[in-house]
Amino acid sequence: MEYRRLGRTNLDVSLLGLGSGGPSQLGQKSGVSESDIHALVDTALGLGVNLIDTAAAYGESEAILGRALKGTPRDRYVLCTKSGPTVREGTETRPRTESELAESLDQSLARLQTDVIDVFQIHAVTPETYGHTRDVLVPELLRQRDRGTIRFIGITEAFASDHERVVLQRALADGVWDTILVGYNLLTPGPEDDVLPLARDKDVGVLVMCAVRRKIARQSDLEALVAVLKRDGLIAPDALPDDAPVDWLLHDGIERVTDAAYAYVAANPLVHSVLTGTADAEHLRQNVDAVLGPSLPEKDRARLKAIFAPTGRKLGD
Ligand SMILES: NC(=O)c1ccc[n+]([C@@H]2O[C@H](COP(=O)([O-])OP(=O)(O)OC[C@H]3O[C@@H](n4cnc5c(N)ncnc54)[C@H](OP(=O)(O)O)[C@@H]3O)[C@@H](O)[C@H]2O)c1
Repeated sequence: MEYRRLGRTNLDVSLLGLGSGGPSQLGQKSGVSESDIHALVDTALGLGVNLIDTAAAYGESEAILGRALKGTPRDRYVLCTKSGPTVREGTETRPRTESELAESLDQSLARLQTDVIDVFQIHAVTPETYGHTRDVLVPELLRQRDRGTIRFIGITEAFASDHERVVLQRALADGVWDTILVGYNLLTPGPEDDVLPLARDKDVGVLVMCAVRRKIARQSDLEALVAVLKRDGLIAPDALPDDAPVDWLLHDGIERVTDAAYAYVAANPLVHSVLTGTADAEHLRQNVDAVLGPSLPEKDRARLKAIFAPTGRKLGD
């Protein structure tokens, strides 16, 4: 495993981190048994993965991880969890209060069977909820940090919206955050030109999500996405083949589109850890090999960027 310094947190984190949300939620969405999830977590630790990302909103993920990690020395892994900036009441959504944030943190600590969260993140912050997050929730996070229940504070963006990364750019300008979690993948090169250099300049830790997600993991979904982009005039009709549109990336040791996708983000030195949301131990091994394996040649990266950057969209959800 390769380890990178997570910005000013000074934590050394594995280049591949284990996510417990996304389409899989550790396999909770597809009926993977709890004992198989424990085995997956053991496999991840055995492969040198030391960063684990979860959230109060990921079904039973926190509680399952709490049980899976029981017995593993706490200093062997960096635990990241999250709480949202709003709460739902019936059909309405309203801002989360400071005391509700403190309560959410207490519940996460209990479910994760620990007394400290390494990186506590505010989850999927939108341009509309950013002001409340910074002005009301951050002061509570700083109090919790002083109390010792959290070590560092982070912010995550809403991948499916906020195509211009307004929230993360504001967050990086504000300077209060220790880490960001950004959606970045081979169809979404935009962070290379805004958020990633800004984070480097501020020495903020960079976690990446949605490196593969659904559309890149499944050829038929990727073909359908490319067809829509062509139909809508977002990419030229001859920019990519209709069938197997990015299989031209598969050469010189890169065997699968998922390998290319994890290799693409991991090769960027401004990224510190790439989360993988897999529930499959074989996929996990492939993904570790991919982040440690051959990089995409510069000419392939440049071709991807020339095709997808002009769309100005986050793609791959
Ligand atoms: N706003 C936020 O804060 C936010 C949003 C999204 C995600 N996240 C975090 O980021 C983590 C990563 O995001 P993500 O879950 O979307 O990650 P991802 O790794 O990009 O996508 C996960 C999907 O890709 C599939 N996959 C992974 N490796 C594969 C392989 N080698 N071959 C075939 N399919 C493969 C998985 O299926 P299999 O299970 O079959 O492998 C799963 O369906 C999440 O788990 C969560 O912790 C945070």
